Amino acid sequence: MNRKDFLKSSTLFGAAALILPTTSAFAENLADNSIDKLVDANGNYIQQTLPYSETFLEPYMDAETLHLHYTFHHGGAVKGANKDLQMIKKALDENNLETVDFWTKKLSYHFSSHILHSIFWTNLTNKSNLPKGDLLKRIEKSFGSFDRLKVLIAATAKNVDGNGWGIVAYQPYSDSLVVLQCENHEKLTQWGAIPILVIDVWEHAYYLKYKNKRTDFVDALFNIINWDNVALRLNDALKLTL
Ligand SMILES: [Fe+2]
Repeated sequence: MNRKDFLKSSTLFGAAALILPTTSAFAENLADNSIDKLVDANGNYIQQTLPYSETFLEPYMDAETLHLHYTFHHGGAVKGANKDLQMIKKALDENNLETVDFWTKKLSYHFSSHILHSIFWTNLTNKSNLPKGDLLKRIEKSFGSFDRLKVLIAATAKNVDGNGWGIVAYQPYSDSLVVLQCENHEKLTQWGAIPILVIDVWEHAYYLKYKNKRTDFVDALFNIINWDNVALRLNDALKLTL
């Protein structure tokens, strides 16, 4: 039984009392290999529905910001990625590669945005919880303690130059958790790293409510991080890279 099946059956039989309500919606959005389903059967990019209502994360993330963010910023990235893909196919069909580097860069930007936003929504919940089990052990091994990770990821996210993300990822090449500071959606990564927790610090993520106070937004976000989802993502990253 894979994670998707387990989550479905455990929810059905009520054995998932400790799993937040969003978990079953999250399970519906997974591909058979338990990673986020971001493409349809034809390879076109698709945006999954939010795993909760737009008011679910109030007051830390307001409904208007969530609506605009999900619909136009994430949604726009999905549309952009599909266009980029078509333009690359067209260039190959016509054997005209003069602009293919432009569209390839665009696709990196848009698809990376799609990936990170898809993870971001599921990383959040309206009930705070804490890391435990294997996730906590891995955090302690890589950073010393959970508090040290919190300090590091918060400082990393707050200090992104311009728009970007703070990211906790599993890095299979070092078999460790790493903190990355991503600019835009695709810069400053490490090859192979699989994001398990992402913090969006683009201005569109917070400006309506927090104005210029990105620091307040990042601090507030720790009230709604779903560490149970982070743990599931770590488990999948480990399975994917075995
Ligand atoms: Fe965003």
